[in-house]
Amino acid sequence: MNLVLIGFGSVGQGLVEILRDKADDLQTRYGFTPLVVGVATRSRGTLYRPDGLNLDALLAAIQAGHLNAYPDTPGLERDWDALRLIRDSNADVMVESTHTNLDTAQPALDYCRAALDSGRHVVMANKGPITLAYEELTERARVAGRLLRFEGTVMAGTPSLRLGIQALAGCTISQARGILNGTTNYILTQMEGGMTYADALANAQALGYAEADPTADVDGWDAAAKALIVARAIFNSPLTLKEMPVSGIRYVTPDDIQAAREAGERWKLIARVTPTEASVQAMRIPANHPLASVSGATNAITYTTDLLGDVTLVGAGAGKLPTGFALLSDLIEIYTHERMELS
Ligand code: HSE
Repeated sequence: MNLVLIGFGSVGQGLVEILRDKADDLQTRYGFTPLVVGVATRSRGTLYRPDGLNLDALLAAIQAGHLNAYPDTPGLERDWDALRLIRDSNADVMVESTHTNLDTAQPALDYCRAALDSGRHVVMANKGPITLAYEELTERARVAGRLLRFEGTVMAGTPSLRLGIQALAGCTISQARGILNGTTNYILTQMEGGMTYADALANAQALGYAEADPTADVDGWDAAAKALIVARAIFNSPLTLKEMPVSGIRYVTPDDIQAAREAGERWKLIARVTPTEASVQAMRIPANHPLASVSGATNAITYTTDLLGDVTLVGAGAGKLPTGFALLSDLIEIYTHERMELS
């Protein structure tokens, strides 16, 4: 399976580290031997080599600051732009991990269109295109006979979507409720320990949890996008961000946190999704509530089902390797699907 990586920040590098470190295991356990043939960045160069790029050299080059540092190798092209890589390379899958844009979803949306229309599967961690153009993209994928997978858009590699779509298939899910933003949960947890809001936010940025523009995290829009993706993927609901009541944690003060603590409660940013509505709101919940014990950048989702009652999944919601793993899990699913089609 040949991959082109569009965007090569923390998440893309996380995937490449995993592919490098687990190459033997992936081959032995699943017969999965993916090849990274192309990488495109916005301002740090582009590489294409149809026979595959060396993953160590690729990581060393980006860590040195620019893909120009990748050594000259026979067959290497350095001047293909992202759209040319998507359309004209020998890739089977486009892995999209550019920054999320919740206003236009661009440029990722055009990358997705180009990939599906030129017969590539799409795997993405970027929330923009799924939030704003889910129906269009799923229809393009259907017409192209290709798969569109986006597990990493919600709770990183913790399989929140796969749980709802696959593992709970056959149950009727009436509600999903959870903590879907790692940055705000980390900030609230640190503030409970006495850290200032500004220091906690700076730490969340340094740890790679926050979005490029962290207002999307602290004002609730990142969690809202994820709630919308859950609404689409689990309930096939046509909700839009504009229809959702959304608030964040920007105005939660140390005094508010202290008052909650004295009342035996904790502040959490809670996303709630039903078949007909979705919302994101900072609220106080009792300290013995299952979601109250979810701390730091950890996320959680509780599906309320008819046959199992509540099913809760807790795990990493952000970060380099957890999100890199989300991309890997989607790639393995596509690889398995292709093998079944062939057999
Ligand atoms: N900024 C996001 C968060 C990253 O803090 O949860 C993962 O989507």
